[in-house]
Amino acid sequence: MTDPRLYVTRPALPALDEFIPLLQEIWASRILTNGGPFHARLESALCEYLGVPHVSLCTNATLGLMIALRSACPPGEIITTPYSFVATSHVIRWTGSEPVFVDVEPDTLNIDASRVEAAITPRTTGILAVHCYGNPCAVTELEALAERHGIPLVYDAAHAFGARVHQRSLMSYGDLSVVSFHATKIFNTLEGGAIVCKDAATKLKIDRLKNFGFVNETSIAECGLNAKMSEINAALGLLQLKTMPDILERRADIGLKYRLELQDVVGIDCITPGPHTVWNHAYFPIMVRETFGMSRDALYEKMKQAGVHCRRYFHPLISDLEMYRSLPSADPAHLPVASAAGNQVLCLPIYPDLSPDDQSRVIALIRGDAD
Ligand SMILES: Cc1ncc(COP(=O)(O)O)c(C=O)c1O
Repeated sequence: MTDPRLYVTRPALPALDEFIPLLQEIWASRILTNGGPFHARLESALCEYLGVPHVSLCTNATLGLMIALRSACPPGEIITTPYSFVATSHVIRWTGSEPVFVDVEPDTLNIDASRVEAAITPRTTGILAVHCYGNPCAVTELEALAERHGIPLVYDAAHAFGARVHQRSLMSYGDLSVVSFHATKIFNTLEGGAIVCKDAATKLKIDRLKNFGFVNETSIAECGLNAKMSEINAALGLLQLKTMPDILERRADIGLKYRLELQDVVGIDCITPGPHTVWNHAYFPIMVRETFGMSRDALYEKMKQAGVHCRRYFHPLISDLEMYRSLPSADPAHLPVASAAGNQVLCLPIYPDLSPDDQSRVIALIRGDAD
């Protein structure tokens, strides 16, 4: 029986009969992981698709981010956003650094580049910015700032697959950029991720870091992790890549319908991507303002009762979590924009096979048509 409830996302999968022959190839070869042929094919296909020089696949974006930070940022203080998924700060701690939270911009909800400079101290060893919802950070400003201070700039680009800014893939920005291929993401390999870097020496270092640090059978150069992507995940990725144009188009259509049908609802604002952007519609966040006449949480509950499960990404803020709230930069008075956004945001269902009728059901609930 099909579940009549709607969720914020529903993973896209290719036709099963196209996947079976790839599985048969893997079974026949008995090469299951450790940088096999599908792994190599997906890395080059992604370089081509994204227009980037080097891609290193990994098990998931969390491990990818740990490797990126380990490779680029010595332990110290890393400037980041409180308005993200917890992994963004957890990876900072796991690599021996402390997060320093900087508030976000009201329009994009990405780290406010104009406030980053004031947070730089002699202990700063990196900036970890997030392209929240696949909406680009102020990439030009952040790059100039990082260069001026000689600080590595790493992007948590978990949401950014398929997004472009200034006619370039969003993943081509920063010293390193890490994307997630988790089941809920636009492009999924069930679990997975990738690190994008700019030169062959960095790629080699990352490839070693994701494979225990091995250089060859007997030589180990780095204190590495096991973060390799398996052949099955990579084979699925090759199939998924073929469907990307359709997926992006369908998401854009759904995004446009939400935008048009919610534009006259008092107290509901949609987040609008900045200029020169081709957005990927990784999520569809709305802001439920005071003038809506019902709180964000009340709307969330009402929709849930009606079988529509939205998500409050990102609430609570990372800086409000027990393990981070005692940091000086976690003081809510220092993060007014992120704090307000965390109480107002609601991410609506968006995925390629969301039917027009189901989307209309979501819209009617927000508009109060069904009340
Ligand atoms: C902003 C952000 N960073 C990192 C991650 C972690 O990605 P993964 O699940 O691939 O480890 C996520 C996952 O949703 C995320 O939203």
